[in-house]
Amino acid sequence: MLVLGIETSCDETGVALYDGERGLLGHALYSQVEVHAPYGGVVPELASRDHVRKLLPLLEEVFEQAGVRRADLDGVAFTAGPGLIGALLVGASFGRSLAWSLGIPAVAVHHMEGHLLAPMLEDPAPTFPFVALLVSGGHTLLVQVEGVGAYTLLGESVDDAAGEAFDKTAKLLGLPYPGGPELAKLAQQGDPTRYRFPRPMTDRPGLDFSFSGLKTFALTTLRDADNEPQTRADIARAFEDAVVDTLAIKCKRALEQTGLTRLVVAGGVGANRSLRARLQTLLDERHGQVFYPRPEFCTDNGAMIAYAGFRRLQAGLHEPLAIEARARWLLTDLEAL
Ligand code: KG4
Ligand code: ZN
Repeated sequence: MLVLGIETSCDETGVALYDGERGLLGHALYSQVEVHAPYGGVVPELASRDHVRKLLPLLEEVFEQAGVRRADLDGVAFTAGPGLIGALLVGASFGRSLAWSLGIPAVAVHHMEGHLLAPMLEDPAPTFPFVALLVSGGHTLLVQVEGVGAYTLLGESVDDAAGEAFDKTAKLLGLPYPGGPELAKLAQQGDPTRYRFPRPMTDRPGLDFSFSGLKTFALTTLRDADNEPQTRADIARAFEDAVVDTLAIKCKRALEQTGLTRLVVAGGVGANRSLRARLQTLLDERHGQVFYPRPEFCTDNGAMIAYAGFRRLQAGLHEPLAIEARARWLLTDLEAL
């Protein structure tokens, strides 16, 4: 079964081809960073328009890469939410219409399920059940995963997502958009002993997170400090250490609570080197295993959507002809396959 995957939920246009027998046959990604950089963040209407411009050329590119034709497709998967509604509608209209024109099924994919299943594209792939830490720009979730679509929410952020906290703190430090990876780079030069940031919500039981206070802590620290480049690096380091530590503490708790031994980490912040190293150590200590997608599949991409769509199509699911996209959509509302 050959499935085309389309991702347009935010500021990245991703297209990929996944085959049930041969695996990932091709993928292409276009990042809108340059479009949004002058504004310091994503401008939704510009994002929608840019997806319109880039989708078809990217599609041609992956078909060429994979050496297949449109007529070879067995299904089309597109991100239907959550995300920016205009951006989502571009991919949903395009994907649903393409499937209709080819007389093949289309399937709507939940963006976070895409992230959650992305490590399945790697070797070794995780086996169910596992705990998933999903850390993106819009969400921070700890999920118990029994199978595709069988998700129990263990904890989530009550305010900013981890990626959002990275981006906002990066902005305070005067770093360009997109801030997360820039802050991580700066933190490498920081002294880990100069400042200590709090580890929010770790002093009480539970698996929820709160990251908005860290950004405020960074702001006040910055205000009271000199404006030397080394100071900014030290603050970046203290911030990153606090986020990584907090995420690791909650992952440990989630593994203890569920009795599971496998941890899957996905979403943009999953590309963070310090987080990856920290969680690797945690799982080594617990004689468990941690699974990540390759860094380029941590952030938004079409491959994860093609794969999640493949699993759903294979189970016989597909969409009616109506084109639907949802800006908000709970991961736990999905039905188990
Ligand atoms: O999954 P993703 O591409 O998009 C959403 O679904 O939101 O995640 C993007 C987020 C951004 O907030 C970005 O700053 C963050 O992931 N990010 C990172 C790193 N790479 C991306 N945060 C920390 N360290 C990184 N290396
Ligand atoms: Zn994402």
